[in-house]
Amino acid sequence: MRNILTLLAVVAVTSCAAQNVRQRINWDDGWKFHLGNSRDPEKDFRYGLDLIFAKTGDAGRTAAAIRFNDSAWEDVRLPHDWAVTLPFAYKNDGDLEGHGYRPTGPLFPESNVGWYRKTFTVTKADSGRRFIITFDGIFRDSRIWINGFYLGNNLGGYSNVSYDITDFLHYGQKNVLAVRADASQYEGWFYEGAGIYRHVWLEEYNDLHLAQEGGVFVHTEDGKDGVNVIVEATIANKALQAASGTAMAYVTTREGQVVATTDEQPWQTAVDGAQTIKLTTAINMPHRWNLDNPYLYRAVVLIKQNGQVIDSQEVRFGVRTILVDKDKGLFVNGRPVKIQGVCCHQDHAGVGAALPDFLQYYRIALLKGMGTNAYRTSHNPPTPELLDACDSLGMLVLDEARLLNSGPEYEEQLKREILRDRNHPSIFMWSIGNEEWIVQTSEVGKRIAQNQLDIVARLDPTRLCTEAVNEGNIYRGVNEVLPVRGFNYHLPDIDPYRRDHPDQPIMGSEMASTVSTRGIYVKDTQRAYVPDYDSCYPPWASTAEQWWSLAADRPWFMGGFAWTGFDYRGEPTPYSWPNINSHFGIMDMCGFPKNVYYYYKSWWTAGDFIHLSPHWNWKGQEGRIIKVWVNTACQDVELYLNGKSLGKKEMPRSGHLYWFVPYKPGTLKAVGHLNGRKIEEVVQTTGPAASIKLTPYQTTIKGDGFDGTAVNVTVVDAQGREVPDAQDLIKFNLTGNARIIGVGNGDPSSHEDDHGNQRHLFNGKCQIILQGGRNAEKIALTATAEGLQPATTEIKAE
Ligand code: GAL
Repeated sequence: MRNILTLLAVVAVTSCAAQNVRQRINWDDGWKFHLGNSRDPEKDFRYGLDLIFAKTGDAGRTAAAIRFNDSAWEDVRLPHDWAVTLPFAYKNDGDLEGHGYRPTGPLFPESNVGWYRKTFTVTKADSGRRFIITFDGIFRDSRIWINGFYLGNNLGGYSNVSYDITDFLHYGQKNVLAVRADASQYEGWFYEGAGIYRHVWLEEYNDLHLAQEGGVFVHTEDGKDGVNVIVEATIANKALQAASGTAMAYVTTREGQVVATTDEQPWQTAVDGAQTIKLTTAINMPHRWNLDNPYLYRAVVLIKQNGQVIDSQEVRFGVRTILVDKDKGLFVNGRPVKIQGVCCHQDHAGVGAALPDFLQYYRIALLKGMGTNAYRTSHNPPTPELLDACDSLGMLVLDEARLLNSGPEYEEQLKREILRDRNHPSIFMWSIGNEEWIVQTSEVGKRIAQNQLDIVARLDPTRLCTEAVNEGNIYRGVNEVLPVRGFNYHLPDIDPYRRDHPDQPIMGSEMASTVSTRGIYVKDTQRAYVPDYDSCYPPWASTAEQWWSLAADRPWFMGGFAWTGFDYRGEPTPYSWPNINSHFGIMDMCGFPKNVYYYYKSWWTAGDFIHLSPHWNWKGQEGRIIKVWVNTACQDVELYLNGKSLGKKEMPRSGHLYWFVPYKPGTLKAVGHLNGRKIEEVVQTTGPAASIKLTPYQTTIKGDGFDGTAVNVTVVDAQGREVPDAQDLIKFNLTGNARIIGVGNGDPSSHEDDHGNQRHLFNGKCQIILQGGRNAEKIALTATAEGLQPATTEIKAE
């Protein structure tokens, strides 16, 4: 390592130069959109009619052609999910039900294809550079053209893809990028969205550059002088002659202070070749990335030729060790961590699959608040910003591939996933698939799995793999080759499997699938609601308490992932229409906690709270016997109704308590003890709603055009107590440079518009999601409802 002062000078010079060597520009703005048609080529802008694959650059009169007139098309901003903007459509069809009754998929040719076009210019001064377009995710089967030239097809709806568009550009003139997304087939059995629902990026760099996919791989290992940082840099040569040069890397703290630098190493590449070089350095006494302090360093790689920096890239990384012990479970930085995980799909209230980045942070923060320490990206590669949020907030990730298939299509998808994601310290393990019941117990499955495991080991030798297998005590097939056995459900088989295969670490890759509807305490088959207790589950599943009690008591069981952290659209188990979203969430679609949330929170956090459920507003039902459910980690709890004790109970390990209480309006009070400390909680019968209350998650946002916030809406009685059973219609008015990007209320049977400026409360709550514009100013949101005192909240964009 060189002297730090000299190094700072070197870096100051090189990082100025570095600004001109590579640019990455967000391309979410300026898109035109129109629905196509999968059955009628006339309505699909002549796609399938015109001869477009005969002569290069000739896209006929289709919407892929540069001259096509898109002025009548809708202006949209990415991320964009057209499925969530369509009205619900009922047909008696299992796959449609699984997808939440939005009219995409095979039955709706008039709304299952979408076209996007973006017009842009590149200055003449930039000719000679390379231009690369990256789509983080398009659902699905996307075909892309630039200026009428066909670029390629990405089948995978969750898979990133990049195209080099350099050769096709018209400098100083109009260029058009066209995308046809075909959502006429599904990939999953859950809501998947439709369209360009993740970010798009334009990158610009030199012919000699760090490779587009996996160009920089940073990993660490403990060494004798602290921690060794290994930076693998791949230099790709798109120039017309062989080239050579040098490369180096340095590491900075999150404030930008340089703490380590590598030596300069030579590289050389043939035409169209690539070379990977290993640059190493060390950090003494590093800050470790962990769940409580997710410290992130930056590694900056500089590629030089004749002493000039010709490319540079900065990558965030963390210093941490992950170890899996077959008898003691998971260790992060040498400390045992029981996996307190959740599986999640990628949609949210209001916005569908098109989540702005701030919602990723919102959701991860909510999960952390419950004590969640791990997130499974079921059943697909996530958007990179989800991983950024997990890196930044301290959440382990099990990053999952969409399908277990070693054919070229899926092999390539897996490779792109690993190359893109492997620098994220939050990822502690890869999953090569989920419930592949056609093959998981066969020789074929074993062979495919072995191939996928080999790919992962080659591209990322630092992490282990699992697959989420829904078999019990069965070893043959993929389980024979998995480094970590993932158990989906099958609780009674976990002990026998461990007995028979004591050398294979075991993790609960998917547990629970408990169903509940927030704020509903009586089963309602008309509205399709299940009670908000930890009591209902489909035949393959369990209560939260059943699986967590099992997990908590077995040191060799690494812990597991509950299905699911949040409700998601589709899979409306155990019902179907009018139900349009799942009930599996520990929180609802908006992130409002259900009762079971407090079960997990009591055993996954320090647990110094008591939660009483249900509410105590049962007007007209005096005398009715109500099951009062108590979640806490207190060792004992005494319950009182209107000052009269209903008895004291001891809390079983990993359990909950309950009392049957004849309803009488007033105050329910619980008094508990946690390690000698007294904790109290009350629930009161409220008066009628008197005014609206707005609770923005953030009151200050960045005025960058991307940031925004969820604002939660409740109503309170004259004494300021939230009214838990209110169902009022709330109307919103927004002033300032911001837009409403979605509304929701967590009602799994609501058919209200997700994109309006109003929403009914569902059991006392709804949510509005705002995104700010590109300037500093005050945004004001006002909420009104008939007969209620309105409310206004201000959000500052700066
Ligand atoms: C699992 C499956 C999940 C979801 C869940 C519902 O078997 O992996 O995607 O369908 O069941 O319980």
